Amino acid sequence: MSSKIRLGIIGGGGDSLIGVLHRIASFMNDNYQIVGAVFNPVWEENIGFAKQIGINTSRIYPDFDTFIEKETALPTSERIQVVSVLTPNFLHFPMAKKLIENGFHVICEKPMTTTYEEAEILQKTLAKTNTVFAVTYTYTGYPMVRQMREMIKNNEIGEIQKVDIQYYQGWINPIIHDKKLRNTVWRLDPKKGGISCCVGDIGTHAFNMAEYLTGLEIKSILADLNYLYEDNTLDIDGTILVRFSENVKGVLRTSQIATGEENGLQVKIYGTKGGLKWEQENPNYLQVLSEDKPLQIYKPGHSYNSELSLNGTKLPPGHPEGIFDSMANIYLGVAKAIRNEPYNSGEFPVMNDGVRGMKFIEQCVASHKNGNSWVQL
Ligand SMILES: NC(=O)c1ccc[n+]([C@@H]2O[C@H](COP(=O)([O-])OP(=O)(O)OC[C@H]3O[C@@H](n4cnc5c(N)ncnc54)[C@H](O)[C@@H]3O)[C@@H](O)[C@H]2O)c1
Repeated sequence: MSSKIRLGIIGGGGDSLIGVLHRIASFMNDNYQIVGAVFNPVWEENIGFAKQIGINTSRIYPDFDTFIEKETALPTSERIQVVSVLTPNFLHFPMAKKLIENGFHVICEKPMTTTYEEAEILQKTLAKTNTVFAVTYTYTGYPMVRQMREMIKNNEIGEIQKVDIQYYQGWINPIIHDKKLRNTVWRLDPKKGGISCCVGDIGTHAFNMAEYLTGLEIKSILADLNYLYEDNTLDIDGTILVRFSENVKGVLRTSQIATGEENGLQVKIYGTKGGLKWEQENPNYLQVLSEDKPLQIYKPGHSYNSELSLNGTKLPPGHPEGIFDSMANIYLGVAKAIRNEPYNSGEFPVMNDGVRGMKFIEQCVASHKNGNSWVQL
């Protein structure tokens, strides 16, 4: 019998953005086999897609409840072990909760839930089990992001004093100005997306990146969000001042109306001895700044990198690896956790990261609505 981990997928059908990233990531390190799914709530599309990508259709279920019912009836040696939840946001909480309660490990897309209250309930549900739970803040899987985390941890840039993370996209620009079009997008629908569009969708990546890299917690924030139109109820842009402590401060800038921008996640972190600069669209180059040396560029796969970074590189230096590899590195860490093998805590984001993310989203909206006031996290 295959020693691969039996993976189930909910959402992520042929019509989705993120499905292909998870499927390829799960294959990359030869740890998982997709054995069952509900790719789509429409049966013809669900089964049609399974056939198209060559998945055995006997475990393609018409809906999530049937998935749980049929899978839990199987012997543990056959049953799906871990489930990736790749649906629109509002389904993450009920699905993840039921999966945890029924003994499945979970890989959940971000934002983890639609409210902080749900996130807390999920955290309590998980605490009663030995379940592995990952939240796919995908960018934490990049080798040079992991390298930044280790360099900061090893005090290579000194005490952190300034954090500036920008995540700019422009895709919603043509949609937001068209009243009809903006009613067709689930990310702009509070019932499906939650209380925020931009901060929830991408601001949360910037927030997670800030805490993942620095190892510090953001204690308070002040948010100025933009909604552009009165009948648009969810933010599509925001500037958020953040304070880690009295002397460690920064800014998270996030937008979906930065016209012409694609996936512009940019990180700048400055310490007392040096600085680090990294861009998602050019992920294999990490700039290391200092006052007394010329600018250095670090690249993946070289022995000068940390173990955590090298662990995320599969090919010799000079073979560009990208977003698929980044997600694959998260899946690799989850596989180690499922198999009870040792792993570095930087290998995948966990429940606490999801909970922090939800608190951040809620407090950004609260800060903005309170007249752009400082609020605690
Ligand atoms: N980690 C990242 O960088 C990243 C990037 C993009 C999206 N996401 C997250 O992934 C999730 C999905 O986003 P997307 O852009 O792929 O959305 P999408 O709308 O493109 O796809 C959603 C998929 O879920 C399926 N679906 C909907 N309801 C379902 C149900 N009841 N049962 C089974 N399947 C169902 C749809 O058929 C579709 O295949 C969101 O939570 C989003 O925030 C994360």
